[in-house]
Amino acid sequence: MSKQSVVSIDIGSSAIHGVIAFYDEKTAKLEIVGANTVTCPDGIDAGDVIDIGEALNSIKILIDGLEKTHGTKDSAVFVSVRGQLIKTADQIDGISVTDSLVTEEIIESVKKAVIEKAQITATDTLIQIIPKEYKLDRLKVVPNPLSMDCSYLELNSLIVTGPRSIVSNIKKACLLDSDAPLFYGYYSLGNILASKESKKLGCMLIDLGGMTTGIVVYVNGIVQKILELPVGADLITRDITKKLKTLQAESKRIKETYGAVSEEYREDGEFEYSIGSSKKTAAISDLIKIIKPQVDMQLAYIISELKKNRVDISALAGGILLTGGGTNLPGILEAFEKPFDCGVKIATVDTNRISVSQEIADSQIYTTAISTLYNELKSRFSGNSAMPDLPGGKEGGFWNRLLRKVGEIV
Ligand SMILES: Nc1ncnc2c1ncn2[C@@H]1O[C@H](COP(=O)(O)OP(=O)(O)OP(=O)(O)O)[C@@H](O)[C@H]1O
Ligand SMILES: [Mg+2]
Repeated sequence: MSKQSVVSIDIGSSAIHGVIAFYDEKTAKLEIVGANTVTCPDGIDAGDVIDIGEALNSIKILIDGLEKTHGTKDSAVFVSVRGQLIKTADQIDGISVTDSLVTEEIIESVKKAVIEKAQITATDTLIQIIPKEYKLDRLKVVPNPLSMDCSYLELNSLIVTGPRSIVSNIKKACLLDSDAPLFYGYYSLGNILASKESKKLGCMLIDLGGMTTGIVVYVNGIVQKILELPVGADLITRDITKKLKTLQAESKRIKETYGAVSEEYREDGEFEYSIGSSKKTAAISDLIKIIKPQVDMQLAYIISELKKNRVDISALAGGILLTGGGTNLPGILEAFEKPFDCGVKIATVDTNRISVSQEIADSQIYTTAISTLYNELKSRFSGNSAMPDLPGGKEGGFWNRLLRKVGEIV
């Protein structure tokens, strides 16, 4: 079989987003062909598994559905995670370099040294080590030291850890082996969506999700901070529910169909909605009066948290990139522009680097799944990953060939 598939899953607050991609060995092309979302409020809460059976069932429905629609099975699976209990911490360590040449083994050794120095507690486990920069002989900073000469190699990194139980329950729900890797979704997002130039100038990637807002801050080309805040577009739905007395699904529909941050972004008029079997009408301007204060409150909270975490928001010459479902609310981009006083753009997947339909890319809800897939294949190829091989990644096996080939298109 020349076509092999991989499914990339993003476990969100209460929904699970997945994309399916094919790699065609003949044409050497990686292509995202489908995407779907399953909601799982009884199995997943705030990125954590609360009921294995429910979560497993939803994830199985998602994967089987994507595979069936695209005529494949036994896909490799990438899973990206996030959540309030997942922590990131800076860690630096260095090692002497034998024969003065940095090999892949040396890079692995310095990563191991950093992980050991991090002294992860017994109740936590490592999820990912994110290299920020390497320093050669305590002098020269480089992004990738492979094949360079030096006698001492230092690694400055972000260590991502999470409670052992959460990590193992997520793996169980995804039918992954206990030693299979998980990926920190926010890191992949920032890495893939923000350009090198913006990262150098200083920029932020903000993922406006349902119950969470993820923020990745870049300064001088490297990740400075990753924050996850407990605010998101579902809080707007909650406010509509409170004011209009509608059920949650109806409030969500109203928000997504008629909502906006301010009146400039929606034509004035009335809309219909239902409470049980009775039909009601309301003015768009009244809906906006519900939405705007929530958006303003979230913006003020985001700014105060950034300040608390010593992020200099006046130094974002590279601007802000927005992604996540919350970006679909008309006027949200402009709402961010005012307080941050810098360029704000909706993030776009670079279709020159990865083949994906405009519809999937524009929805903004699959960007984490897409970025994790792309980022991981790319980093494996360039030797920047400390994670074990994927299932099937044996010498000469399909994934090994894939990673080599994907390297040619990144
Ligand atoms: N057109 C729209 N207008 C307003 N909000 C929208 C629109 N489309 C989607 N949303 C909102 O985006 C949110 C979902 O975004 P997303 O799928 O990125 O979140 P998630 O990944 O499931 O959650 P989280 O990132 O918090 O874990 C929901 O609140 C949804 O109502
Ligand atoms: Mg999300």
